[in-house]
Amino acid sequence: MPEEDVSAHYTSAGLLAAIRDGVARLSKTPATVTVDELAPVDEFHIGGRRATEHVLGQLGLTPDQHVLDVGCGLGGSARFATTRFGCHVTGIDLTEEFVATGQVLCDWVGLGDRVALRQGSALSMPFDAESFDGAYMLHVGMNIADKRELCAEVHRVLRPGACFGIYDVMRTGEGDLTYPVPWAATPATSAVAAVDDYRLALRAAEFTITAERNRRDFALEFFATLKARTVGSSGPPPLGLHILMGDTTPGKIANMVGSIASGTLAPVELVARKAP
Ligand SMILES: C[S@@+](CC[C@H](N)C(=O)[O-])C[C@H]1O[C@@H](n2cnc3c(N)ncnc32)[C@H](O)[C@@H]1O
Repeated sequence: MPEEDVSAHYTSAGLLAAIRDGVARLSKTPATVTVDELAPVDEFHIGGRRATEHVLGQLGLTPDQHVLDVGCGLGGSARFATTRFGCHVTGIDLTEEFVATGQVLCDWVGLGDRVALRQGSALSMPFDAESFDGAYMLHVGMNIADKRELCAEVHRVLRPGACFGIYDVMRTGEGDLTYPVPWAATPATSAVAAVDDYRLALRAAEFTITAERNRRDFALEFFATLKARTVGSSGPPPLGLHILMGDTTPGKIANMVGSIASGTLAPVELVARKAP
């Protein structure tokens, strides 16, 4: 899958200005906005911050660790991780605009020295072998066709005994997908795979899977709450994922929720460990 097509899908131009406007609409400034207030726009996965807390809470993160965020996007989860667990975080992402904007957001909230975001591919990371104490990847594998290469590359940069937490939208049943979805406008940049493909890829890379959880019910509840909140409101909130997904946001969400409701897709967590 051409990586430039994937980053083009996520690039909107003017992203930082749109976030700055949203912050102003909250009656905040770059100097006063908090990590939590940015979460609605910088946690680009089903369930937002709540989902991040759930995944990262299973990884045993501690302040002395250096953790990798694979496909970090704007770095919202990385900023949360360092704030909650005290660890240093490095994020890598294909989309230049996300990385550049995310680094500015780190500076706004005073975390520029604890979180570093870099542009690059998860399939060929510019990091030494065994340089991270843990890794996580939130809603990224749907854009990466070769799950084995992905898991092997994450395994390479992890220290022995380190955990790798995955939270991706996976195929859990039969049925065609309707596009656009949040991660792809057409099938050309979508690489949704079955849970078993992830299991096999993790095992081929010599990870041991220690936990697996289908988060379908959580996702449907999350979207039902979101819908109830939207009814009667005069428009989207100042900060939200509509800023990242643009005019096609309602269709992308509706198509994805329809596939989750029908059982074709579900967000699934997998936690794996590299041998000590
Ligand atoms: C749906 S967003 C999720 C971003 C972030 N993990 C989050 O949850 O907020 C998917 C991200 O994966 C990134 N991505 C897709 N393919 C990638 C690859 N091969 N290497 C690195 N990042 C990739 C995209 O640029 C995009 O930022």
